[in-house]
Amino acid sequence: MTGVTGYRRPYFETQPAYLYPGYRSTVKRSPSRPLVLLPHTLSEVTGPVFGYDDVKPTDGDLTRQHEGEPIGERIVVSGRVLDENSRPVAHALIEIWQANAAGRYRHAVDDHDAPLDPNFTGAGRVLTDAEGRYRFVTIKPGAYPWRNHYNAWRPAHLHFSLFGVGLVQRLVTQMYFPGDPLLQYDPMVNSIPDQKARARLVSAFDWETTIPDIALAFRFDVVLRGRDATPMETARS
Ligand SMILES: [Fe+2]
Repeated sequence: MTGVTGYRRPYFETQPAYLYPGYRSTVKRSPSRPLVLLPHTLSEVTGPVFGYDDVKPTDGDLTRQHEGEPIGERIVVSGRVLDENSRPVAHALIEIWQANAAGRYRHAVDDHDAPLDPNFTGAGRVLTDAEGRYRFVTIKPGAYPWRNHYNAWRPAHLHFSLFGVGLVQRLVTQMYFPGDPLLQYDPMVNSIPDQKARARLVSAFDWETTIPDIALAFRFDVVLRGRDATPMETARS
């Protein structure tokens, strides 16, 4: 395929290391042989897109998916999705999934000794608008232990999945909360060599988008490519 302008490759050390022994799963899943650079072709820079009609306006409010209200601190999470040239990415599908306020996922393999919430599923999705903006209402997730090492705890986080203008452009990352004391101990965060890139995974408290008497708010912008790219995961975690 000729005449296709590929994307810029991620900036040096802004993405998680494939092999970071402190994050145990990377030992088995990291490549053991040199990577092969594949040129971008038409299917990476364009392609079929998500059916917009399938996203309901209520899918972005994780506090209204059941009869009752979930337990926990209501929060608003909003921001913009931008490309490597700071242009908004419109109609991008954003999906999130998260633990409940007690740090428990509604998932078959989560055996953490913490209660499930019958009024909280922990998954939502929205499309960005013409200016690349998105907004979720949800519950602040709790920290939870994992078995990476002795007394390992994940900082509170939301998992994010983003589709750009094509389904093959799926990117997965995590959003953290400002001031979380667990961040400095987290091998997933620390597997990103560049300190400034790490900081881009931490949302900012956002007074402007709080809802008086209802919810505090956090802002999380995602940059899909280039020097200011949001660090992305190479595998789901
Ligand atoms: Fe998680």
